[in-house]
Amino acid sequence: MICEKYVFNWQGAVLLKNILLIFSNILLYTFFMNLSRLPKKDTIIYIANNFMEKQPILFSGIKPTGRPHIGNYLGALKNWVELQHTHNCIYSIVDYHALTIEIKPVELTANILALAKTLLAIGIDPKKSTLFIQSHVPEHTELAWIFNCMTPVAEMERMTQYKDKAKQHKKNINMGLFDYPALMAADILLYRAEAVPVGEDQLQHLELTRIIAKKFNNRYEKYFEEPQAIITKAKRIMSLTDPAKKMSKELGESSYISLLDSPEQIRKKIMKTVTETSTSKTGNMSPGVLNLIELLNHFDNQKASQEYANQYNKGVIKYAELKTAVADTLITYLKPIAEKYNDISDIEVKNILRDGAVEAKDIAQKNLKEIKNIIGLI
Ligand code: TRP
Repeated sequence: MICEKYVFNWQGAVLLKNILLIFSNILLYTFFMNLSRLPKKDTIIYIANNFMEKQPILFSGIKPTGRPHIGNYLGALKNWVELQHTHNCIYSIVDYHALTIEIKPVELTANILALAKTLLAIGIDPKKSTLFIQSHVPEHTELAWIFNCMTPVAEMERMTQYKDKAKQHKKNINMGLFDYPALMAADILLYRAEAVPVGEDQLQHLELTRIIAKKFNNRYEKYFEEPQAIITKAKRIMSLTDPAKKMSKELGESSYISLLDSPEQIRKKIMKTVTETSTSKTGNMSPGVLNLIELLNHFDNQKASQEYANQYNKGVIKYAELKTAVADTLITYLKPIAEKYNDISDIEVKNILRDGAVEAKDIAQKNLKEIKNIIGLI
């Protein structure tokens, strides 16, 4: 009897020990897997954050003005996914910003849901990050008003994006278009964010955000951080039809690859890309060929990228083969994204966005209350 009990306990202890071992190994494994995926410069931040359990607050926003393409992905969104390891990320679909350009209601609604699903499909993880819709947290527009009253008109008039957009949309130069940077500053500062991943075109707006933060801190008390830009290393993906221009939806359907294009669409567009252009006579690689070879590189097929670059230099490259390799690489890379996208229902995505707004509001309400207090509102 005693012996049996002893045996039983002994086995139980071994079992427990093994379970603990497996568990600690899983923890160690995830830690080192994450570590190995990080760019070198982020490794130290990651280790420090893991031990100190404090990550810097990061905010970024994306407008729901259309379906994201591979240029948007490489230029910004891929980085958003990676930054989740090192920062406390708050990501917003900035629908109020989208209203500055005329857009049909049904189109706007569809864009918002499609964008949210795309963000989830590429790897934005609602367990790690906060993902929400800007207009679900009214504190953004409230803070924008406070900032309006502190921002000189002359500062706004300097904004190159405003000047460009005003030229492009001559019949709809509205106040929102002009005031766009004040709302953007509110987006960022409402969460007292320290880091903001943006493209180069948004640097001027971020500079204005810092000016507003400084003004507030000087006039009242030091409350806001002066947020720093995290610039995605210049990965300029060029248009497939006009490789002298940056990939953009404005250049037409066949000039870009959407993250959700079907394998047939991808193949068709890639096979039709412009390769040799007049500039290729100068001896430099023609921009169309360079773009294709870079695409191989960016979409994790460095071996093929190197091989075709060598073939080009030797003058033995066959463009049909290069294009097939690019199409295959893109199709393989984008397939799991499309699958994940199709797996997410409208209800699911709406629930995630609703939970995200609750999380965001938690911080936003607390901070706005403090801000109002500081400036004397009761
Ligand atoms: N203006 C940004 C763009 O056009 C979008 C944006 C709005 C944003 N609010 C932001 C980006 C806050 C970073 C932080 O791309």
